Amino acid sequence: MAVILAIESSCDEMSVAILKDGKDLLSNVVASQIDIHKQYGGVVPEIASRKHVECVSTVLKEALNKANIDIHDIDAIAVTKGPGLVGSLHVGMQEAKTLAIALKKPLIGVHHIAGHIYANQIENEIHYPCLALVVSGGHTELVYMKSEFNFKVIGSTFDDAIGETYDKVGRVLHLPYPGGPVLDKMAHEGKHTYKLPVPLDDGSYNFSFSGLKSAVINLNHKYEQRGEQINMNDLACSFQDVAVESLSSKALKAAHDLHVKEIIVAGGVSANKGLREKMANSDIPVIFPPMKYCTDNAAMIASAASVMYKYKKFAPLNLSVKPSYDLEQESVGN
Ligand code: KG4
Ligand code: ZN
Repeated sequence: MAVILAIESSCDEMSVAILKDGKDLLSNVVASQIDIHKQYGGVVPEIASRKHVECVSTVLKEALNKANIDIHDIDAIAVTKGPGLVGSLHVGMQEAKTLAIALKKPLIGVHHIAGHIYANQIENEIHYPCLALVVSGGHTELVYMKSEFNFKVIGSTFDDAIGETYDKVGRVLHLPYPGGPVLDKMAHEGKHTYKLPVPLDDGSYNFSFSGLKSAVINLNHKYEQRGEQINMNDLACSFQDVAVESLSSKALKAAHDLHVKEIIVAGGVSANKGLREKMANSDIPVIFPPMKYCTDNAAMIASAASVMYKYKKFAPLNLSVKPSYDLEQESVGN
């Protein structure tokens, strides 16, 4: 197959990975800015892109050193082209184009969500037809894949993405950013005591989390007004149970309706222990990526790019970054 060098810089992580033949991960260096953005309670785009500029060369050098590979042995340069923060994406894109031109190698522009989906292929095989449950900071979608690299979005969120919901609830409860992993941990120390509304219980494949988010915020506010202390772990548990039930029940319904072989979970929220436990005993196999490939990293971009390399899905050197790209348009076949 090929040796792919991939760059991911769509949000607050700068990452470079080198993947040989789709499976042999030679390096995957991730420089996270969480500690910087924590003090603002969320990602500040201008700071994220400036920090990317500062560290991109160091991360690249480290990835090459760890892989112990001659840069000329790389067959293609892959990069996240979107969706994401435009300023952040630009830094990775410029680096990738420079390398592609200097090394005279093809450029591969990868859709960030295709990357999350193919995080499931770094250590395992994907069996088609399958259903991808995409749960990240910016996306909540059900994607039907009848064959390799073929995407049909059959449902998505009407408002907040699930990761965004976790982070917004976390912010209102004065938890450190990002709220997702913190609430997940708290949920495991609490009980499901508070009654919260079931989101969009309409038999469709779509999601809605803004009502659940508001209900959690309002309940906490009510306790504050009464001068009472709400049990934070119980609130986290009640919230997580309802959120995870919505994700898993809709994914399972779609998987049955479409007769898929398996459900693959993708995106940062695939690290969620509640979701993993809930879906563990489903009557359809449910595959989660290894924890280290759940949140943003370049190994997943390299994994998707390895498939694109096979189909010669190369990009022109005037490829631009975009805050949103249509996943279905990335499909191979019809
Ligand atoms: O996929 P990702 O790294 O970035 C995007 O592409 O958006 O996802 C980040 C999101 C954040 O919202 C973060 O709070 C959430 O993933 N997250 C979690 C957990 N770990 C990360 N949410 C719930 N439980 C977790 N354990
Ligand atoms: Zn992501």
